[in-house]
Amino acid sequence: MRLTYTSDVWWKNAVVYCLDVETFKDGNGDGVGDFRGLTQQIDYLAGLGVTCLWLMPFFPTPNKDDGYDITDFYSIDPRLGTLGDFVEFMRTAHDRGLRVIADLVVNHTSDRHPWFVEARSGRDSPRRDWYVWSDVPEPDDPGQIVFPDKETSVWEYDEGSGQYYLHSFYRHQPDLNVGNPEVRDEITRILGFWMELGLSGFRVDAVPFLIENVNPKLADPHEFLADLRAFMTRRKGGSILLGEVNVPYKELISYFGDGLGDQITMCFDFIGMQQAWLSLARGEAAPLVKALRERPEPPKDCQWAMFLRNHDELTLDKLTEDERQEVFRAFGPERDMQIFGRGLRRRLPTMFGGDLRRVKMAYSLLFSLPGTPVIFYGEEIGMGENLAEEGRMAVRVPMQWSADGGFSHSAEPVREIPEGSFAPERVNVADQKRDNDSLLRWFQLLIERYRECPELAWGEYTVLEAGHPAVFAHRCDADGATVVAVHNLGDTALEVTLRLAGLARHRLTDLLVDGTLEVSDEGEVRLPLDPHGCRWLRASPPEIAPEDASVKSH
Ligand code: GLC
Repeated sequence: MRLTYTSDVWWKNAVVYCLDVETFKDGNGDGVGDFRGLTQQIDYLAGLGVTCLWLMPFFPTPNKDDGYDITDFYSIDPRLGTLGDFVEFMRTAHDRGLRVIADLVVNHTSDRHPWFVEARSGRDSPRRDWYVWSDVPEPDDPGQIVFPDKETSVWEYDEGSGQYYLHSFYRHQPDLNVGNPEVRDEITRILGFWMELGLSGFRVDAVPFLIENVNPKLADPHEFLADLRAFMTRRKGGSILLGEVNVPYKELISYFGDGLGDQITMCFDFIGMQQAWLSLARGEAAPLVKALRERPEPPKDCQWAMFLRNHDELTLDKLTEDERQEVFRAFGPERDMQIFGRGLRRRLPTMFGGDLRRVKMAYSLLFSLPGTPVIFYGEEIGMGENLAEEGRMAVRVPMQWSADGGFSHSAEPVREIPEGSFAPERVNVADQKRDNDSLLRWFQLLIERYRECPELAWGEYTVLEAGHPAVFAHRCDADGATVVAVHNLGDTALEVTLRLAGLARHRLTDLLVDGTLEVSDEGEVRLPLDPHGCRWLRASPPEIAPEDASVKSH
């Protein structure tokens, strides 16, 4: 059986769409997005062609880190609806063929979580060991502080009980101690609970922090990930973990489960993403080519998750200082656009100054790169950020449904809507649906083609010599079929010659625009590219080409 045509490993060529219920659609008119609003928009999402929704945290929260600070893992933030609304949403999503995964934020809880309140009540509290305590904390390594704008240490002194607790993130997010078997059991119960309500898996927040910062150290921290995955597979085959693991490739590969592929199903390719941005800044393919050549092959049934932007800052932490400054100069020169000294709090189209050709090329590149594309809500219509919002919230603006915003019909939205060239009057779903040249239509086409070309996600890929520094060209082969993708990162028209081994005399059909090209007897093809042009070409063997041609000539 050709696995490419089964749904057994559905994640391998899924299109994942990340959204925050809070900012997607307000269904009850109080200005806060909710599950009822989201449910009304499921047909839009299905029509876009995405296959899996990733919901950002929707649990009860004091909201000091936009929901990544949870006070109850077993219910719904009342501002977003009820468990009943959640189940109705799940049912509708499934009916339209969409899978749903949710953020699993179990490296830490809110400091208002009843577990922490109990744990800090005294050193002999039965829950004391659910968190990580120390009399004399180790000195801080400034490189380990994730939010250097707000924190100077990962340890916070707890007056009441006279010890320090660990918080890898903000001080109001004490780290859970997965060194404690009760905590590990509880996390498993949380997974089981939401899977029972229909989730197909989880995006696991901050994975390295989760398994490393614990007491006592786990003999094999990765065993915990393997246990979680085994539990999920027992309960429901085909459920996945999508891991936020921003570490160098050498270390990263172990998170899939060495050789076995029995831990994190998909890891975000943070390295490839950062090198892609360097390539985009320079208009040169080399950094991305290097990353793809260095990137290890994930174990069987595992996959890379590809992205250009997400809900956080565009982190450039794995670039050198000079490279980072280069990207800052190209895409976020103003201080206010930068954050934590390592990233940009911007969305993609504003970084390209609204140049639609460049935006379209960047997403074509994303969908053609080997791996599973993950997009952030609003990317499909080219929404911009609102720098007036604090910190990372700049990119988490309300979804722009129509010229008047359309997020909420009767109240001030939970977060301010951007003004200027990226305001809803200029950028919205309703207008782009009526415009065949819109970014929304381009996304629909890319998604449709990506789904029709499982070679892209699954295939064996080879980076091709394009003979021009601005051109990134690669081919993906699977089950005897080939797709060639070519991207011009530069802003001048040019022509390249590609050598396509094994494809002599094949016909290449352009899947995005129109037209065909012939590969020569020597296996070469000359390929013109517009400024920021992009082409996806399907190769068909000479034996079927004549028939094709005769159909055309009729
Ligand atoms: C992850 C999330 C980020 C959050 C942090 C703490 O990095 O992506 O948004 O603030 O974890 O949970």
